[in-house]
Amino acid sequence: MAKQQLAVFITLLAFVGPAACQQKGLHICFNGWLKVPSLLSYLLCPPGSRTTNPPPTSSPTTPAPPSGAELSYDYYNNNGSSSYCPSAESLVKDAVKKAIDMDPGHAANIYSSSTEIFVCDDMVNFQGCDASVLLNTTTSKDSPTDTEREGPPNKNSLRGFEVIDAAKAAIEAACPRTVSCADIVAFAARDASSLLSYGSINIRMAGGRLDGRVSFANETDQLPGPFSSLAQLQSSFREKGLTSDEMVTLSGAHSIGKAHCGFFSDRLPPNPSTMDYAFATELEVKCEDNEANMVDQDYQTAYVLDNKFYENVRANKVLFDSDDALKTVREVKQNAEYPEIWERKFEKAMENLGRLVDVKSRREGEIRETCWRVNGY
Ligand code: HEM
Repeated sequence: MAKQQLAVFITLLAFVGPAACQQKGLHICFNGWLKVPSLLSYLLCPPGSRTTNPPPTSSPTTPAPPSGAELSYDYYNNNGSSSYCPSAESLVKDAVKKAIDMDPGHAANIYSSSTEIFVCDDMVNFQGCDASVLLNTTTSKDSPTDTEREGPPNKNSLRGFEVIDAAKAAIEAACPRTVSCADIVAFAARDASSLLSYGSINIRMAGGRLDGRVSFANETDQLPGPFSSLAQLQSSFREKGLTSDEMVTLSGAHSIGKAHCGFFSDRLPPNPSTMDYAFATELEVKCEDNEANMVDQDYQTAYVLDNKFYENVRANKVLFDSDDALKTVREVKQNAEYPEIWERKFEKAMENLGRLVDVKSRREGEIRETCWRVNGY
C-alpha cells in the first residue's frame, strides 16, 4: 500500500474506530486476539472506547461472584427426581480416561476438549456454562456456521470435541434426555484435571446446568487473547465476577497443551527482558516460520497439570504476551513456590467458573440429545 493510501486508511480508522469499538456487532478490537501496532491500536480504540477497558475496582457494575445457586452436588443421584441418572458422572470419567489411556500423548487434546472448552463456554457472553460453544448449528437456520465454535479465538484452536460426544452417546444410551452437555463438559474438565495432575487436583463440581439454544461467533471476542494486557485480562474475568487472583490461578492451566506459533511469533527474536534467549531460539526452530506449527506450552512437563507455569513465567519462558503480563502479579511467586496452595486455589476457581450459570438461559435451556446441535433442528 502506498504511503498516501496508508495515511488515508489510518485517518479513516481514527474516525471509524472509536464508534466501532462501542457498537456490539463490530469487533475491531478483538480483545487481545489480534496484534495491532500500538499507534493503530490507539487510533482504533482510544482509551475509554473499549468495551474491555477495566472499570475501577470499586465499580458498582462489577458483577457479584458466580453463585450457581440452582446447582447441586450429586445432582444426578437424586432417586425419584426426573434427573436421576446415577451412572452419569462415572460414564463421563470413563470417556475421559479411555481417551487419555488410548494415547497419553493425546492428553493435551483431552484437556483441551474439556477444560479449555469449559472455560470458553463459561466466559463467552452472559449465558455462562450452557455448552453453547459445542454447537455447530443453532436455531438460526440462516447462519448455520455462525456459532462460538467459529469465532476467531476458537476456530482451529478448540479441539477434542469427540471426547464430549463419546461421553454424551454413552449417557444417552443409559438415561435418554436427562444429562445436559453443559454438565458433561464440566464433569470432563474436573476429571481431566484430576487425571492429568495425577490425583493432586480434585475439583468439586456441582450439576444441574441446562444447554443453551443459541451460540454466536461474534460473542467470542469477549475472551481475553494472547495479546491481552494485564488490565484486559483482569477486566475480562472481573466482568464475569471472577477475581484477579482467580484469573492468575486458572492461567496455571497453561502448564499443559499446545499453542500455535502464530500466537507468539511476533515475540521472536526475543526481547531479553521478556523472553529467555535460549528458550526463544528453540521456539524459532520448532516454528520454522510457520504460524500453523504447534509447540508445547510448558517446556518442562508438557503433559502434567502442575504449577510449572509459574516457574516459567518467572524465568521468561512462556509463550504469550498475556502469560508474560502476569509476571508483576504477587501471586505468581507464591504459586511457583507452594504447589499445594496453587492446587487448592485452582480447585476452587474451577468450581467457581462452573457456577457461571445465567438464570435466563436456564429458563430457556434444554437437555440436548446431541451436543453439537439444538433439539428439533
Ligand atoms: C487468561 C486468559 C487466557 C488466555 C489469553 C489464553 C490463551 C490461550 C491461547 C492463545 C492458547 C493457544 C491456542 C492455540 O494455539 O490453539 C491457549 C491454549 C490453552 N489454554 Fe488458554 N488462555 C487463557 C486462559 C485459560 C484458562 C483459564 C484455561 C483453563 C483453566 C486455559 C486452558 C488452556 C489449555 C488447556 C490450552 C491448550 C489447548 C490445546 O492443547 O489445544 N486457558 N490459551
